[in-house]
Amino acid sequence: QGHIQDVQELRKFEPNIIPERFIRDIQERPAPATPLISSSDIPTIDLSKLLKGNRDELLQLATACEEWGFFQVINHGIALNLLENIEGQAMEFFRLPLEEKQKYAMAPGTVQGYGQAFVFSEHQKLDWCNMFALGITPEYLRNPLLWPNKPANFSNTVEIYSKEVRKLCKNLLKYIALSLGLKEDLFEEAFGAAVQAVRMNYYPPCSRPDLVLGLSPHSDGSALTVLQQGKGCSVGLQILKDDKWVPVQPIPNALVINIGDTMEVVTNGRYKSVEHRAVTHKHTDRLSLVTFYAPSYDIELGPMPEFVDKNNPCKYRRYNHGEYSKHYVANKLQGKRTLEFAK
Ligand code: SIN
Ligand code: FE2
Repeated sequence: QGHIQDVQELRKFEPNIIPERFIRDIQERPAPATPLISSSDIPTIDLSKLLKGNRDELLQLATACEEWGFFQVINHGIALNLLENIEGQAMEFFRLPLEEKQKYAMAPGTVQGYGQAFVFSEHQKLDWCNMFALGITPEYLRNPLLWPNKPANFSNTVEIYSKEVRKLCKNLLKYIALSLGLKEDLFEEAFGAAVQAVRMNYYPPCSRPDLVLGLSPHSDGSALTVLQQGKGCSVGLQILKDDKWVPVQPIPNALVINIGDTMEVVTNGRYKSVEHRAVTHKHTDRLSLVTFYAPSYDIELGPMPEFVDKNNPCKYRRYNHGEYSKHYVANKLQGKRTLEFAK
């Protein structure tokens, strides 16, 4: 994979230099997002309405999952000061000196710790991003050496935040099952002891945002992803909708939810994972906090019988989710390419 330059250091010492490895081929460069579809079209779902049994909201959820694969959730039940806390802690972490962060360096070929994941060759383009990731559950995924002791409250805040996000994921999976007319614990039961991981992405400003990407286009390997966009940060997340990149304008205090590959497989393509990427800006930085919620690695998956019939032939094979995850992290991020594994 060669030596990977740390983008924050690059930005600090050579603010106007973009090393070759970050410069995208022309067709990959982020042409200004076409605002034909305005981001306000991305559905907003009110969890408090779902909790009250509101049928309309459930229909909206179905549409959001079927037509967008992405929505923003409001009244999600997670305290605002917790969202602010985790964000503050994450920013403090990224602002630590490089030597401090490198105590938690991501080992090559792994996805936990500080660095850049998904880099496998010297020819691969690099993302204008620094990442810090941790496995949360099950317990065996945790490497205590990677849990920072600076900032002092960081690890504790991650712990509290993750518990809350887990509750949200369980709630959402329940309503997603109901939105398909199925029993509420269908997915939770099928997924076993769920895997939860968190990844923090920090995108420094970039002198040539037109030449680089913050994060390469990809779909998520999870069942569900919960994404928190930093308050006051610039718009950076874009989703591919009808072949156009649509920016996701953050709604204050809302969380962005997206359907992952696993959900696409189990629903036999009814709810789809959608390709997305992140772009950078000339003068502003950006933070995103991403939680992945996925089945236990020992689970065998495939389209559920509820989604397969004469008119909907089986689109994916059965496979072991642990194998799929290995495959996902052993490949560069490249659109929906990793889902080929399930075909
Ligand atoms: C991601 O897809 O993991 C993050 C995208 C973002 O930074 O909004
Ligand atoms: Fe993603």
